[in-house]
Amino acid sequence: MKKLAAGNWKMNGSTAALAEVEALIAAHPAPGCEMLLCPPATLISAMAARATGAALKVGGQDCHAKASGAHTGDLSAAMLLDAGASHVILGHSERRADHGGSSELVRAKAGAALAAGLIAIVCLGETEAERDAGATLAVIGAQLDASLPAGATAATLVIAYEPVWAIGTGRTPTLDQITEVHSFLRARLSGLIGAEAAGTRLLYGGSVKPSNAAEIFALADVDGALVGGASLKAADFGAIVAALSAA
Ligand code: PGA
Repeated sequence: MKKLAAGNWKMNGSTAALAEVEALIAAHPAPGCEMLLCPPATLISAMAARATGAALKVGGQDCHAKASGAHTGDLSAAMLLDAGASHVILGHSERRADHGGSSELVRAKAGAALAAGLIAIVCLGETEAERDAGATLAVIGAQLDASLPAGATAATLVIAYEPVWAIGTGRTPTLDQITEVHSFLRARLSGLIGAEAAGTRLLYGGSVKPSNAAEIFALADVDGALVGGASLKAADFGAIVAALSAA
């Protein structure tokens, strides 16, 4: 399987930030992993235009579960595809917290993404209180079970494990904790999608940066990263891409 370095720009970036994309593309013409950036929706088509012919894919950060209709301010999966996206992040903890995204809603959105021809990056993760209570695997298992759309395959689904307490905090789980969750996810996934689980990319996300990327990418069952803050600068994200390419 080809590993995946995915960047999530969140609510950051204007057209001036596309200079970072040009620098990234120039520095990594043929990386040894897939390279994806998910900018705000306002930048998808401009970024996709810059990425044409380059080894960079572009994704959205969320989509609606419906194909079209009276949903002011929302975007459908087909609209993201039309703008030049190939992937969409779904169930990010910030969406779950800010917009009440249940796992059932994530499943509906992921189904819509697959139906439109997008690859769904489904995010899962425990809060700090859940980890302290020893509930990490139970929480993640329940999120996985409830979030997966019917018909998901290794080619259409990516899972991102993102402990909520590690996002944007500079804190990361221990390497043993990451390994425990990723091997649990691989096994649980095979109960859900059978042989497809072996080839499904399992990303780690939460305070990944150039200085910790290599040790995380060396872990079994870590097939890449979902990167927030460190994806905004070409030099930082490029260093993470290089570390994943070398893993
Ligand atoms: P971070 O964000 O890398 O800034 O911690 C990760 C994410 O939210 O995907």
